[in-house]
Amino acid sequence: MCGIVGYLGQRDCTEVLMDGLEKLEYRGYDSAGIAVFEGRDIKTVKTRGKLTAMKEKLEREGRPQGHCGIGHTRWATHGEPSDANSHPHSNGRVTIVHNGIIENYAELKQFLTEQGYTFLSQTDSEVVACLLDYYYSERNPLHAITETLKELRGSYALGIIFKDFPERVYAARCGSPLIVGVGQGESFIASDIPAFLKYTKDYVLLEDNEIVRLDTEGVMFFDVHGIQISKERRIAEWDVEQAQKCGYPHYMLKEIHEQPGVVQKTLDSLTKDGIPDFTDIGLTDDMLRGFNKVFITACGTAMYAGIVAKYAIEKLARVPVAVEIASEFRYMDPIVGENDLVIVVSQSGETADTKAALELAKERGAKTLAVVNVKYSAIARLADICINTLAGLEIAVASTKAYSVQIASLYLLAFRFAYAREAIDADELKRLTAQLAKTPEVIQNIIDRCDECQFIASQLVNTETLFFIGRGFDYALSLEGSLKLKEISYIHSEAYAAGELKHGTISLIEQNIPVITIATQSHIIEKTISNMEEVKARGAFVIAICRKGTTFADGTVDLKLELDFGELNDMLVPLPTVCALQLIAYYSSILRGNDPDKPRNLAKSVTTE
Ligand code: M6R
Repeated sequence: MCGIVGYLGQRDCTEVLMDGLEKLEYRGYDSAGIAVFEGRDIKTVKTRGKLTAMKEKLEREGRPQGHCGIGHTRWATHGEPSDANSHPHSNGRVTIVHNGIIENYAELKQFLTEQGYTFLSQTDSEVVACLLDYYYSERNPLHAITETLKELRGSYALGIIFKDFPERVYAARCGSPLIVGVGQGESFIASDIPAFLKYTKDYVLLEDNEIVRLDTEGVMFFDVHGIQISKERRIAEWDVEQAQKCGYPHYMLKEIHEQPGVVQKTLDSLTKDGIPDFTDIGLTDDMLRGFNKVFITACGTAMYAGIVAKYAIEKLARVPVAVEIASEFRYMDPIVGENDLVIVVSQSGETADTKAALELAKERGAKTLAVVNVKYSAIARLADICINTLAGLEIAVASTKAYSVQIASLYLLAFRFAYAREAIDADELKRLTAQLAKTPEVIQNIIDRCDECQFIASQLVNTETLFFIGRGFDYALSLEGSLKLKEISYIHSEAYAAGELKHGTISLIEQNIPVITIATQSHIIEKTISNMEEVKARGAFVIAICRKGTTFADGTVDLKLELDFGELNDMLVPLPTVCALQLIAYYSSILRGNDPDKPRNLAKSVTTE
């Protein structure tokens, strides 16, 4: 939720930290701050607002000059966004940055207050600085950290500097991500790899209850008892370009345009000889035959990808699939056990609720399959089997290309599921896979129609509320279209199964309320058209998104976006169609003067409950 960085080396620390924070700003942008050693003193600069506010403050107050420090970009949990609540927090001889939530902060605060500590912020994080100071004695930072970690409940990734050690950065984690970058004569800590990708591709993943020390000798790792441990080094597969806008005004637009390529790459990685093949990741036909039921659990867009998958798996493989919101699944005592397959879907692989749902499924003995975009993320490592989607780095808060690769890989899973259970034969398996292989081209054609999407957006710009409706796969897609639009345009939007509207919600339809109807599913198109007529009769402004050549009676539709899917099977059209919905959302956001990459109140990785 927040982003943390730390640096030790010969470069200008302020520049490295600010650079890193810029790459992590997707994790939160309520406030930002850095603390840098200037000689033996620590200079802290922090402010409420986005990084631009921080840059202005550095201009005004002077940039800290040094080679060792930590930084933070905040998504507020405890305490409003304000200068005082911004990180870093200092107390006594310790300065920290924190990503996560300290659940027992109230009792720790009371204890520390009794010990004479005073608090300057309303955050939960400040107790960590105080506690570290409380346990710090005999110039032994590691002892202070191990003692402090024993007391903390909740989740944290911490970056820590001690006033007595101007050439050291410590970090520890439990439940929140933390990566250590290892360069030539320099080292980094960060919540995510892009923060240091410009300087090094070598990294080490810190696990829960581990501690790292960066100093002039290099990096050293310790377990929670302070015993030194060795760790595997990895090389990042992403390159610097992926973390840049490359000429696009926003990451979101860049990521929308990347979809043909990343869908192609993901499909290629999961097919062999023209059919889906999951044996390399340990998912066999025998296993697929044995499952009684399937659960798909995830949050937000990833969950909506799960709904498309539910329709595809049930239609083709005839196995029951329940889609559950991860934050519900983890507490609803689900009837799940051996012989069930639990699929978790996550772009980041770090979403706290999705991870907890996965842990629960494992506890109950279910087989777990993760569909994850970040290799080696917590969820990827925890699941029994993992499909790595190949969207590459997704930076915009609104997920676009990650959704496309999620549904692309879940379609392949549905095909193989059906084949393994003899619901389709080898010819049909090949035919469906070949159809799916055509989607990158169709996606490209749709992205090329961005002018028409922009025009639709221009018709929505002054509305305060709208609806998406559709049936079957169109309904599954409506959910995602609606989320995309509302999260970045701030227009209130609801998605409804078209047939459900008349059971209550139709009372909200008034003159000129836009109703975006997705009408691509041939076998139910007439039913959908009837629902369009119903809202039109009540004054709605009806926008139809449909297959090229779809006809409507005069006066049913106010605006039409006809999409050329070629010969694509109806089941697969959500994949290209979503790109049009993403573009409509993107332009609606721009036309309303918003920043689509950083929508208010949101953060990309939700690593707290
Ligand atoms: O990283 P994840 O896929 O687990 O994230 C899940 C949701 O938080 C995410 O999809 C969110 O809904 C996005 N803002 C949607 O654009």
